[in-house]
Amino acid sequence: MAIQLGDTAPDFTADTTEGRIGLHEYLGEDWGLLFSHPADFTPVCTTELGELARRKGDFDARGVKLIGVSVDPVDSHRRWSDDIAETQGVALNYPLVGDEDRTVAELYGMIHPNALATATVRSVFVIGPDKKVKLTLTYPANVGRNVDELLRVIDALQLSSEHAISTPVNWRDGDEVVISPALSDDEARERFPKGFRTLKPYLRLTPQPEHSPHP
Ligand code: BEZ
Repeated sequence: MAIQLGDTAPDFTADTTEGRIGLHEYLGEDWGLLFSHPADFTPVCTTELGELARRKGDFDARGVKLIGVSVDPVDSHRRWSDDIAETQGVALNYPLVGDEDRTVAELYGMIHPNALATATVRSVFVIGPDKKVKLTLTYPANVGRNVDELLRVIDALQLSSEHAISTPVNWRDGDEVVISPALSDDEARERFPKGFRTLKPYLRLTPQPEHSPHP
């Protein structure tokens, strides 16, 4: 069965460009972004993996560790990483799993045979510090992902894990957030000292509360 939100992210141990890694041990207390790409030495993947490397500092600042997967062997990832450095101007700085036997791809349902028979599609799993899956995304091979969007949803996930809030449509870091309808007005006043505005009893908006700092 496909992995669903709230499931424990299946653990695995695999060979990567940074040696043998056990997923849960690698993540430790951090958040994780586990993602697959269809194949090494392909154009869209080259741009995506380069951009993730360029933005690694933004993931670090949020306490998020990156780890990529494809069914190519580790030595292919290593040779391809030279092309990424040459064309994208930044070298890989996170591990890539060489999943030739498809153990990880099958564990996470990253192969969608009706879309791409032999390779992983562009899957994304955001994993929380409790090792639960917080978000899944699936893109086809011919559409590259948007790193700003990945960071945006991580901000929303982290904020809503710290405060009794949700993020409304098109929310960006710094925008107003929605107070949980489970809180009474009195509880909302106590938890959100900047105040709130009530559009409907179930729709109350408050200035974004502070993020907790990540080490
Ligand atoms: C690409 O990254 O451009 C790509 C990879 C696999 C299939 C199609 C496109």
